[in-house]
Amino acid sequence: MKNSVRAAILGMGMSVPEKVLTNFDLEKMVETSDKWITERTGIKERRILRDGENITEHAIKAAKEALEKANISPEELNLIICATVTPEYIIPSMAVLVQDGLGAKNAGAFDLSATCSGFIYGLSTAKSFVESNPESKVLVIGAEALSRKTNWQDRTICVLLGDGAGAAVVGKSPDPETSRIIDFTIGADGAYWQLLTLKGGGTCYPPFDERLPKEEYYIKMKGREVFKVATRMMEKIAFELLERNGFTTEDVDLLVPHQANLRIIEYLRERLKLPKEKVYVNIQKYGNTSAASIPLALYEAEKEGRLKRGDLVLLVAFGGGFTFGGMLLRW
Ligand SMILES: CC(C)(COP(=O)(O)OP(=O)(O)OC[C@H]1O[C@@H](n2cnc3c(N)ncnc32)[C@H](O)[C@@H]1OP(=O)(O)O)[C@@H](O)C(=O)NCCC(=O)NCCS
Repeated sequence: MKNSVRAAILGMGMSVPEKVLTNFDLEKMVETSDKWITERTGIKERRILRDGENITEHAIKAAKEALEKANISPEELNLIICATVTPEYIIPSMAVLVQDGLGAKNAGAFDLSATCSGFIYGLSTAKSFVESNPESKVLVIGAEALSRKTNWQDRTICVLLGDGAGAAVVGKSPDPETSRIIDFTIGADGAYWQLLTLKGGGTCYPPFDERLPKEEYYIKMKGREVFKVATRMMEKIAFELLERNGFTTEDVDLLVPHQANLRIIEYLRERLKLPKEKVYVNIQKYGNTSAASIPLALYEAEKEGRLKRGDLVLLVAFGGGFTFGGMLLRW
């Protein structure tokens, strides 16, 4: 262990839009209530981009903070991965806009589309990259502008989503005994693809294709069905990852799950038999921000003093596709 190169998160950053949309605001837009949203999802408010504001600005701001915390200059970056399903453009990628915004002139850059599991997919790629290129530094961003793909007349989805960006710099751990990415698992099950879709605007149904109903140009979800598979898969990933690394749930210091629904998080907490203080939740403030959800939660957990050096941290995510991912870290 001592001589081998192990990757670790060296610094994190986050940035969310200033504009807050509360459940009470939504009551004026669709037939819903603060009570329904709170009881069914745990969400109280979410952040929404204003007109003219773009999510890449937040991705860059989060990245600058992560670089500063890691004490790394943009020129030292070798790779930038942006996990997102809501980039500003199809071409160019969000990652190259971030590369330009940071002046990271030595970095390759690409976007990664894995819905809500995107940040774990990105961290997994970064770990593998760093451990095979020991001096390399990788910037992983999860950034979403879901409000731009939300049907604000569809109460089954518009109450759930929010915008935001989080970033992590991954590099060689200065002390692998206490701080490293231990292991990860990523997976997918495309058989479920019809349960969560955004069909319009791709190459099957290009923009303004009249064959497709207008609502298909926004995110659509069969929530109840997604709920069932999400709970099952998140539990499976968590147990598999712990067992194959010789841990039990009692060893976990903090579970940081994808923030899609407080009831899903509570289900997972109960199955893992974790006390409330060992599960991080900030869904009440941001809703489901897809690929940004895990980095926003990790960032705030650290800021609030819920994470300390050497803690065993378990990340678990699940998203449309379906995709799923889990990661074990020593913080
Ligand atoms: C979407 C979700 C919150 C809905 O909660 P639910 O308890 O499953 O609710 P249902 O879909 O069964 O709907 C129950 C009722 O509430 C109604 N309803 C749906 N959205 C509503 C809203 N925003 N306000 C008020 N009522 C609403 C439904 O129409 C339904 O009414 P009915 O019983 O008269 O038919 C929940 O299914 C969920 O979180 N699913 C997983 C989402 C997820 O994880 N997605 C992302 C993957 S990363």
